[in-house]
Amino acid sequence: MCAVRAVLFDLDGTLTQSEEGIWNCVRYAAEKMGRPAPDAETLRRFIGPPLFFSFQTYMSMTEEEAGRAVDFYRERYNATGLLENRVYPGIRRLLVRLKRAGCYLGIATGKPQIPTERILRHFRLEGFFDAVAGTRPEDTSASKEQLIRRALPATYATAVMVGDRRFDVEGARAVGIDSVGVGYGYGDEVELRAAGCGAYAPTVAALEEILCGDTPVPRGCFLSMEGPDGSGKTTQVQLLEDRLLRFGFDVYRTREPGGCSIAEKIRQLLLDPANGEMTDVTEALLYAASRAQHVRQVIRPALAAGKLVLCDRFVDSSVAYQGGGRKLGVARVKEINAPAVDGTMPDATVYLDIDHVAAMKRRSAATTLDRLELQAESFHGRVEAAYQEIVAAEPERFVRVDAAQAPEKVAEDIWRQVLDRLTEAEA
Ligand code: TYD
Repeated sequence: MCAVRAVLFDLDGTLTQSEEGIWNCVRYAAEKMGRPAPDAETLRRFIGPPLFFSFQTYMSMTEEEAGRAVDFYRERYNATGLLENRVYPGIRRLLVRLKRAGCYLGIATGKPQIPTERILRHFRLEGFFDAVAGTRPEDTSASKEQLIRRALPATYATAVMVGDRRFDVEGARAVGIDSVGVGYGYGDEVELRAAGCGAYAPTVAALEEILCGDTPVPRGCFLSMEGPDGSGKTTQVQLLEDRLLRFGFDVYRTREPGGCSIAEKIRQLLLDPANGEMTDVTEALLYAASRAQHVRQVIRPALAAGKLVLCDRFVDSSVAYQGGGRKLGVARVKEINAPAVDGTMPDATVYLDIDHVAAMKRRSAATTLDRLELQAESFHGRVEAAYQEIVAAEPERFVRVDAAQAPEKVAEDIWRQVLDRLTEAEA
């Protein structure tokens, strides 16, 4: 008896959201053909049907013109359009759960085989799939039914096809397997139900519930970002979040001090320039108190729900600013924070490495400085020195990046290293 459970997915509109690339390529083809830029309604119609048909029907082209337009479209698509694409947030956790539960995973898409494989490689998804069935050059008209048959294992106990259009549901029925229709893609509930889908999922979360049921939710991942004031951290946290979302990670972004209402109130006390008389120990204890709340109320529940927590500063900031900057000492500040953190440490921490004098120059371009930023140069020198000490002490946790480079280069360096770590953890 074979007990394999096979789960097959359509690509566009089910795992990935691809309109950005499709629309850019339709616009490009229209421009090359000397046509006016198509409006939003016309562009929307291009998702789904064959291109040749769409250029003729929606842009009133002759057969000959539509043929040329398809060539222009493909020229841009194969170069760049293909990767102007995003994985729906939450898809990665869904795939991890299915894989860990021992499922056989496959792709059955009407997209050609080679671009399909390139997209999966680009998003580091290829490792999840046992079979990838896209259309091949020799297929004159591969139906969804044929593609599903190609993607299925030789034997299986149960199989389900997941897709966003009626073709996916109809193909599954023709093969005699179950189907789930998803409503977050390019089809809608009416279309999917009319085609006879076995279940309907309006969101990725609902799909996860249907497919994974009560299989264990893997613990999420905890990332933090650190750096001296003026290291460009705000920009880099934003760029990292954008990329993580594009790759289908279920991101929960937060910050310290703050991240929940009690901790945000403590933040106001800490950063208010009017609180000049605050003692160094008070300051360290308040940061730790805000952290204790944030860890318990926000970070731990998010990790337990399998989210990727992206935190702008965490305990390393206290060690650097209060331990180094305020001279309370690295060991003492770690001790003060032990009950706040209570073992919940980041899996990886990006450190934006920049000389404090260079960082200060950037910072002075800002208009208003808070109480911590107003400290003397020697304070920021000690902050930087303490950071260097803690980064050197835990090389396996820290991702050190040269933050004096241009912002795009910094973002690229962060991304390469963070993505490697995250995809290793998924394996
Ligand atoms: P914020 O405006 O968030 O600055 P940034 O954008 O640089 O993160 O203010 C946070 C300030 O608080 C920053 O100067 C660093 C300081 N800080 C500490 O001194 N200790 C800590 O534990 C944390 C989390 C922040």
